[in-house]
Amino acid sequence: QARHLFHYNIVLIGFMGSGKSTISDYLSTMFAMETVEMDQIISQREGMSISDIFAVYGEEYFRNLETSLLIEMQAKNNVVISCGGGTPMRDNNVVEMKKNGRVVLLTASPETIYHRVKDSHDRPLLENNKNVSFITELMEKRREKYEAAADVIIQTDGKNELEVCEELVQRL
Ligand code: S3P
Repeated sequence: QARHLFHYNIVLIGFMGSGKSTISDYLSTMFAMETVEMDQIISQREGMSISDIFAVYGEEYFRNLETSLLIEMQAKNNVVISCGGGTPMRDNNVVEMKKNGRVVLLTASPETIYHRVKDSHDRPLLENNKNVSFITELMEKRREKYEAAADVIIQTDGKNELEVCEELVQRL
């Protein structure tokens, strides 16, 4: 039987484009961990894009799905959970993510974020707002909740995947 490196789950949080999906893929390869990409699972289960879920059912409905998924994942261990950027905005989601294991916040400057998201799609909140000043403003609004949810904070500007993962493993 395979021995798991972590007896808990790792929960990655952070702003859109902070590197959650990239780092969770990298961790899963490095440590043979299962990854749970929350947006992807929600989108698959609902049979529509994140933008369509927001447009048809609203943000509240989407946040409820996030809460359910975080609760569902508590039955697992050695899983890397990549949250949506807004998941920690709801206090109840923070309670449920903390039951999963260690919460790691990935951060980056608004300029770095802008470069990472500028060609991406299916991010309804950035649909008409893809610019550094909007990103800066939203990031400021979220900072306090992000930091309060985090057990570990890792700054990612100018670091590659390996460097971020090494720092993460050292500090867990
Ligand atoms: C959101 C971030 C998105 C997605 C949804 C809402 C947010 O996830 O969950 O569009 O509120 O910041 P990513 O961080 O993976 O882009």
